Amino acid sequence: MSSTYGAYPAARPRRLRTTAAMRRMVAEHRVHPSDLILPVFVREGAAEPVPVSSMPGVVQHSRESLKKAAAEAVALGLGGIMIFGVPEDAKKDAVGTAGTDPEGILQVALRDVRSEVGDDLVVMSDLCLDEYTDHGHCGVLDGEGRVDNDATLERYAEMARVQAGAGAHVVGPSGMMDGQIAHIRSALDGAGFTDVAVFAYTAKYSSAFFGPFREAIGSSLTGDRKTYQQDPANGREALRELALDLAEGADMVMVKPGMPYLDVLKEVSERADVPVGAYQISGEYAMIEAAAEKGLIDRDAAIIETLTGFKRAGARMILTYWASEAASRLLR
Ligand code: PBG
Repeated sequence: MSSTYGAYPAARPRRLRTTAAMRRMVAEHRVHPSDLILPVFVREGAAEPVPVSSMPGVVQHSRESLKKAAAEAVALGLGGIMIFGVPEDAKKDAVGTAGTDPEGILQVALRDVRSEVGDDLVVMSDLCLDEYTDHGHCGVLDGEGRVDNDATLERYAEMARVQAGAGAHVVGPSGMMDGQIAHIRSALDGAGFTDVAVFAYTAKYSSAFFGPFREAIGSSLTGDRKTYQQDPANGREALRELALDLAEGADMVMVKPGMPYLDVLKEVSERADVPVGAYQISGEYAMIEAAAEKGLIDRDAAIIETLTGFKRAGARMILTYWASEAASRLLR
């Protein structure tokens, strides 16, 4: 790395920052609508979209409003949509039955969205039990109330088959059970869904920033997920999770949350030979919206800056609740 005029006053990096056109031309990274994946919530029985108060601008969709959001995502050229189901409270139980019912809200929504968008948008489904369990954990519990890894894998296998049967192009296992990727891959293959891809939540940390999501899905959780989600203190461990997920057949991998884990995203993206996603989660969204609401930051600039940061750190795809808004601004 050398340049003949390596030092000031000959070297003046500011030359490449003089005009907007110059900055645009030399930019190393830019966000494109197709980089973006829109996470959406769909609520069983909702006649109208229901606002999520902790996430201003985000709703629990009705089936109709979800179809519109999906059509808009196609028009904007988004990469994909990730669907989370919110069942009626009365349908929650210990094993998350509604998550494997072909008539469960997520499966119904997958069929709705596929009939709306066909193959013009990558349709993804959250593959996890927490939305459907009455205790709110991502898996089933054993006799002592601990999350039972291997019993949960059997539930995930069934969820994978049912979601693929309802039209998911991609399933997104977010429960952090050991062996989940291999188990899901073999369940899909065994049922003939060899083309359905697995987007592994590879490094998912036990984060305080998940708070608003738990309102968004009406979570029943008390306590925490520290026995299955990663400890925020651990970076190296993410590389072990990556190696395992790749060995188990993950087609794409994800780091989540986003902003507090850019170092992990960078390391994972340098090692992974599959596309890497970053998930800008509910608390990151809420934090920027709240600061902007108070007049403390420039909201629109902050949003694009965070998305650009994910690209710089190595993300190929970004899951963000601002996907549609950001895409419409990027297209202007
Ligand atoms: C689990 C899941 C969670 C999120 C996505 N999938 C919540 C959790 O682990 O508690 C969080 C997304 C967000 O906070 O935006 N199904």
